[in-house]
Amino acid sequence: MLIGSISYLCLIMENISEDTRNILGLQLPTDPRWVDLAGMSLEDILSDHAYCEQKAATSCISLIQRYSSKAELVNALAPIVTEEWGHFRLVLAELQKRGLHLARQRRDEYVNQLLLFQKKGGHPEETFLDQLLTMALIEARSCERFKRLSEGLEDEYMKNFYRRFMESEAGHYTLFISLAGTYVDKEKVRKRWKEWLDHESSVMQNLELRGDRIH
Ligand SMILES: [Fe+2]
Ligand SMILES: [Fe+2]
Repeated sequence: MLIGSISYLCLIMENISEDTRNILGLQLPTDPRWVDLAGMSLEDILSDHAYCEQKAATSCISLIQRYSSKAELVNALAPIVTEEWGHFRLVLAELQKRGLHLARQRRDEYVNQLLLFQKKGGHPEETFLDQLLTMALIEARSCERFKRLSEGLEDEYMKNFYRRFMESEAGHYTLFISLAGTYVDKEKVRKRWKEWLDHESSVMQNLELRGDRIH
């Protein structure tokens, strides 16, 4: 799942049944106007992107700390931490190359609204599952947004820049779902993933369309 690897997302999308696609797939495509807005505020979008990568790395570290007894999870997420931090550095370098600055971190409305949907205080397995599915969903939506940028931006260099991120995040989202299935009954995972997709769709519908945000 290194950057530059073939797009696992596209591969599975081509080879799976319609039913499975609906299970994995986001329900609401990004408003096409978003790419135009994002293209207009490169410093903001790159800064926000950098923080998304930083948070992805931090979240994987937290999962490793919290679930240290789950060897498969620890082994799978340890290299993702390195990869996500590598992404942060790539985005930072891109900002600096352009004479732009890393802006202040903003409130992450999208993630905050997803977190509200997590079951807390119930069975530990439910909490664990929701944590993995939240990660999967953020990766999936990021992947979708990077895909939009890679197709819709005018600058060829930036299109390619985002295509590489899209490929990488596609591998991550499938990894979190498959990790969930390693520890939790697959039917439970499938059912809860569907609920998450419904929730995510309503969050997206109500979020303000802003070009200075990845989500
Ligand atoms: Fe990343
Ligand atoms: Fe990722």
